[in-house]
Formats: sequence, structure tokens, C-alpha cells
Amino acid sequence: MLVVPVETTRVVLGVSGGIAAYKAVDLLRRLSGSGYDVTVVPTEAALRFVGEPTWAALSHNPVLTDVWTGAEQVPHVRLGRQADLVVVAPATADLLARAAHGLADDLLTNTLLTARGPVLFAPAMHTEMWTHPATVANVATLRSRGAVVLEPAYGRLTGDDFGQGRLPEPTEIARLAELLLRRPDALRRDLVGRRVLITAGGTREPLDPVRFLGNRSSGRQGFDLAAVAAARGAEVHLVAANVELPCPAGIELIRVGSAEELRATTHAAAKYADVVVMAAAVADFRPAAPAEVKIKKTDAAPAPIELIGNPDVLAELVRARSVGRLSTPVIVGFAAETGDRHADVLTHGRAKLARKGCDLLVVNAVSDGRVFGLPDNAAVILSATGPEIDVPLGPKTVLAAALWDAIAALLPE
Ligand code: CTP
Repeated sequence: MLVVPVETTRVVLGVSGGIAAYKAVDLLRRLSGSGYDVTVVPTEAALRFVGEPTWAALSHNPVLTDVWTGAEQVPHVRLGRQADLVVVAPATADLLARAAHGLADDLLTNTLLTARGPVLFAPAMHTEMWTHPATVANVATLRSRGAVVLEPAYGRLTGDDFGQGRLPEPTEIARLAELLLRRPDALRRDLVGRRVLITAGGTREPLDPVRFLGNRSSGRQGFDLAAVAAARGAEVHLVAANVELPCPAGIELIRVGSAEELRATTHAAAKYADVVVMAAAVADFRPAAPAEVKIKKTDAAPAPIELIGNPDVLAELVRARSVGRLSTPVIVGFAAETGDRHADVLTHGRAKLARKGCDLLVVNAVSDGRVFGLPDNAAVILSATGPEIDVPLGPKTVLAAALWDAIAALLPE
């Protein structure tokens, strides 16, 4: 794995002329906040939306647009050559077209031609422009050359219209940028044509209309898995149990609450999936008889809560496959373990892999409040048939990329 020390990391943030340029200000703050040396290269049109002083103040670097200013430093070659990563956000239809055709009519397109590191485009435009055959062909060209072009998100567009075309969330772009800096090959398009189903978050089992039994899962790992799979070309269905994070772009999101809801949704969607990744923390038990009205405080001692078991969705999927009712080639489980006086984390993990019968099991240690809600994670990917893969502490996107590598290796041609 290529690890770039943060202090020497140079990022060019290209901004083209769309209304979403204002969101690139947030992206710039995140990239600078990560310690990268960011140079912003806006197009002329981008400067009509957000002015030069904003980019300069937040990047602490001069802002250049044309190839003539400071020509003695040859910026049209230097910036691209020196960049560890070029991110273009928003990437308009016009910018994608110019990049696809290798034009070099401003500093940003010159920089794209001279860049030799990874390039990440985060498009934003109206749906008609995104689905126009010209844009579709330009995106295909850029991807065939190794550039990462994210899918725009669905939602409200500039006018009253609604559709695909919104800029992916700056948090998501920043996380994928960080992943590319650590692993330039992490978003190669090896999942095109694959349907993947991911569960994320933690289920809530109702006690009464206002209370529930829940767990501490934030859904972050599952959402990063979804974002990485989508960037690698998969059709992603994400079943999210009580997750408050923004939906990654280009993903079909289904929100659920309880284990029963998650189970029904997962079984229905798994029929069409090449891969199921059960990253959700599914409650093993639920209150036997949730109250229909709010349980009131009384002077008497509170009644004990009687629990009954929930079905094990992962084990059910594996069983369905073993009797031929499901043809999903790869089924993956997650296990958050603490280790105890009987065995350590990995021993528990290996036993769980055998017990659940899935193909891969991602085991992480969760003692001392580690993992939940944090952007970083460390894990071991256990395999029923292959090697164990140790993923050291790092961004959850890096673990996601390592897991998709392992999954891709198991998928039939
Ligand atoms: N899982 C599931 N249905 C459940 C419980 C868990 O599908 N009712 C899945 C989780 O999504 C995860 C895997 O099983 O992928 C392991 O979850 P975990 O809670 O670690 O497993 P348990 O069998 O509940 O083991 P433990 O006794 O350690 O809680």
C-alpha cells in the first residue's frame, strides 16, 4: 500500500463553473483541514460563482486561472506534474467535455493534461446534461483512461426540478480523495455490472412508541463500503438502519428501523444481488411484547423486559444459498468482537466465520469505544477459502477498498 505523508501531499482542487461551486468551499476546508497543500484552480466561469479571495484565503495559496499569470513559473505544467491528486468539483458538462477531448484552453485543462497522479471528477449538472449522449460518451472516455468520475447524487437541482445531477456531498468527495491519496488504484472500475447489497447502521427494537433497544453502530463503515463500491462501478443497494449520514451519490438507499424490517428488505433485495455485505449491527433480541402506548412511570418497581430472539439474517442468507433458493456468489459478514477470558478477538472471529458459513468475515476489535462512529477502523478480513488479510488502523474507506478487492477476487467472471 502506498502511504503518502500528509505534510508533503499536494492536491489541486479544480473548480468549474456551476452553482455547486459554493459547495467546493466546504470541500476545500476539509482538504486543507486534513493537512494537504491545496492549490485551487478555478475556471473563469467558476469565479463568477465564488471569488478569488475566498479560494486564496482558505487554501493559503495563490489562485491561478489562466496560463499567462506568473508564466515564469510555468504553472500550466508545474501544477499538474507536482500534484499527488487532482480533484475537480464541481465538474460541469463543459469541463468533462474539454477534459475528455484533451483541450488545454485554460489552466485547469492544462493541469489535467500534465497530471500523472489520480484524477477525481465530482460532476454536477442538470439531469438532461448528465444523461446526454455527449456527456455519457465523455464520462466513458475519461473512465477508460483511468480517471475516477463519480455519479452525481439524486435530489433537488438549481430550479424547482429534481433528479440526478447534484454534486456528491463534500464529505464523501473528501473521503474518496483521501482514499486515492493512500491507494491510487482503490477506485478502479472492477465492479461494473455487479449488483451489491449492503446493510449498514444499527437496528432499533421498539419497547413502546417512544423507546427502543439499540446499539452504537453509526453506519459509517457501511456507507463508506457503498461509496467505494459505487465509484468502482457497482449498482449499489444500501439498506440503512437508523443512519444519520448523508446518502452516498449514485446509490439506491432504503431506510429501515427494526431487525424485522431489515430482514424483510434484505431478503427481498438479496435475490438480485451478486454480493451481500451484512455490515449492519442487527439486534439479536427484541422485546417480546412492545407496548402500544407509552409506558408510564409508576411508584412500583419497573416490570422486567422480556426479550425474544431475532432471526439471524446472515445465517438465513447462507442457508438459503445452500438449498439453492439464493444464488448470491459472495456473502460477507461483519463481527465486532472484544475478546474475553475464553479466547481473543481473532479466535472468536474464526469460530464465527465457521458458524455463520459466509465467504468472508470482517473482524474488528471494539473494546475501549474503538470503531463506533469514528472515521478510522482496523480489521482482519477472514476468508473461508483464502488468506486472512490484515488491514491496519486507517480510514474506513481503506478497509472498504481492501474488502472490495477480496470480494472481487471471489466473484465469478
Ligand atoms: N447478523 C444478522 N442477524 C442477526 C445478528 C447478526 O444478520 N440477528 C449479522 C451481522 O450483520 C454481522 C454478523 O451477523 O454481519 C455477525 O454479527 P454478530 O452480532 O457479531 O454475530 P452474533 O451471531 O450475534 O454473535 P455474538 O454472539 O458475538 O453477538
